[in-house]
Amino acid sequence: MNNFDYCNPVRIVFGKGQISQLPNLLPKSAKVLMTYGGGSIKSNGVYDQVKAALKDYDVVEFGGIEPNPQYSTLMKAVEIVKSEKIDFLLSVGGGSTLDGTKFIAAAAKYTGEDPWDILAKGAPVVDAVPLGCVITLPATGSEMNCLAVISKKETTEKLAFGSPAVFPKFSIIDPTVTFSLPLRQVANGIADTFVHVIEQYVTHPQNTPLQDRQAEALLLALIDEAPKVFKDPQNYDVRANLFWMATQALNGWLNVGVVQCWATHNIGHELTAQLGIDHGRSLALVLPGVWRSQRKEKGEKIAQLGRRVFGITEPDLDKAVDATIDATRNFFASLGIKATKAEYGVTDEVVQAIAKLIDSRGVKFGDRQNIDGAKIVEIMSLCD
Ligand code: NZQ
Ligand code: ZN
Repeated sequence: MNNFDYCNPVRIVFGKGQISQLPNLLPKSAKVLMTYGGGSIKSNGVYDQVKAALKDYDVVEFGGIEPNPQYSTLMKAVEIVKSEKIDFLLSVGGGSTLDGTKFIAAAAKYTGEDPWDILAKGAPVVDAVPLGCVITLPATGSEMNCLAVISKKETTEKLAFGSPAVFPKFSIIDPTVTFSLPLRQVANGIADTFVHVIEQYVTHPQNTPLQDRQAEALLLALIDEAPKVFKDPQNYDVRANLFWMATQALNGWLNVGVVQCWATHNIGHELTAQLGIDHGRSLALVLPGVWRSQRKEKGEKIAQLGRRVFGITEPDLDKAVDATIDATRNFFASLGIKATKAEYGVTDEVVQAIAKLIDSRGVKFGDRQNIDGAKIVEIMSLCD
C-alpha cells in the first residue's frame, strides 16, 4: 500500500428538514454570497427554505451558474465577493454550482495575475473564502471533497483543480430536494457515482483488499438501489441511499493508498468541452473503450469486478472481461443511457482534436500513465 495522508474535514448534516440548520452552521456575523444555478431551486422550494433559514443574515445572491460552470460567469461573482466584502459563500444547487463556488472562493483570494492559472497551470491555492453548501443533486461527491471542474468555452477547455482550502465547512444533504430532479439527471448521477468508484478500483492488483471490498460494497448497493428510483421516484429511503452513495464514492475514502486511473473522466471532460455532453453520459460512453484498450493492464481487476459485483462465473479471464464489459454496458442501458458515439455526435474529427490537445499539453492518463493522444484515438474507436 502506498503512503497516504488523509484528512476530510467536511461536516455532513444529512436528512429531512436539515436546511433549517443553516443558522447553526454559518458564522453569526457572516456576510453571505448565496450562489445558485439556472433556477431549479426556485421551482422546488429550496430557495424559499434557504431564504427563511437566512432571515437574520446579510445575504447577496448570485444566480445563473451553468451546468459545467463557466469561468466568465464565475469571475463576475468574484467581483461581487470583493466589492461587497463577502466573507462566506453558500452554494445552493448541484455539483456545477458547488464547483463554481469553490472556484469563486479560491479566485477571490488569488494573488497571482490570472485565476485561470489555478486550472491551466496548477497554480497553488493557498487561501479561499470559506464556503458551505446545500447540495441538490447526488452525483459528483463535490459536497465532501476539495475538487472542482471548471469550463472555459472560449478555449474549449474543461479542467480540474483541488485544494484543501476549498473543502466545504459543511454540506447539507436533504434527500427530499432530489424529488424534483428530472430522471435524466438521476441517471447521470448514478452513472457518475458508478464510474467514480470504478476509477479508484479497476486499476491493477495492488494488494489492498479493504479498499477493494469497500468499492465492491458501494457498487453492489448502487446496482441494487438504482432500479428502485425509476420505479418509485417518491421513495425517500431510495433517494437517501443514492445520495449517501454518491457522497461516499468521491470523498477520498476509497482511494487512500492506491494508484488510481482517471482516464475515463479525463477523456469525458474533453468530450463535454467539445460537444456539451452531460458529464455522466460522457463517462458511460468512454469507459468500455478504456477497458477494451487497457485489457492487458486492467484485465484482472475487470474480471474481479465481474465476478464479485455482477456475479459472473466464467473461469476464463478474457471471457470474464468481455462479460463484465457487457454487464456494465447493460447497467448503463438500464438507466436509460444510450452510450454510443452517434448519440452524442462524436466524430473522428472531434476525437483527433482531443488527441492533439492532450499531446500538446504533454500529459498522459491512466494508472500506468500510458494513455496519450494515440491511445485516446484507439480508445474512442473501441467505444460502441
Ligand atoms: O442549474 P439548475 O437550474 O439548478 O438545474 C440543474 C442543472 O440543470 C439541475 N438540478 C440540480 N439539482 C436539481 C436540479 N433540477 C431539479 N431538482 C434538483 N434538486 O440539474 C442540472 C445539472 O446540474 P449540475 O450541477 O450540472 O449536475 P452535477 O451535480 O452532475 O454536476 C456536474 C458537474 O460536476 C463536475 C462535472 O464535470 C460537471 O461539471 N464534476 C465534479 C466533481 C467534483 N467536484 O468532485 C467530480 C465529477 O467527476 C465531475 O467531474
Ligand atoms: Zn464524475
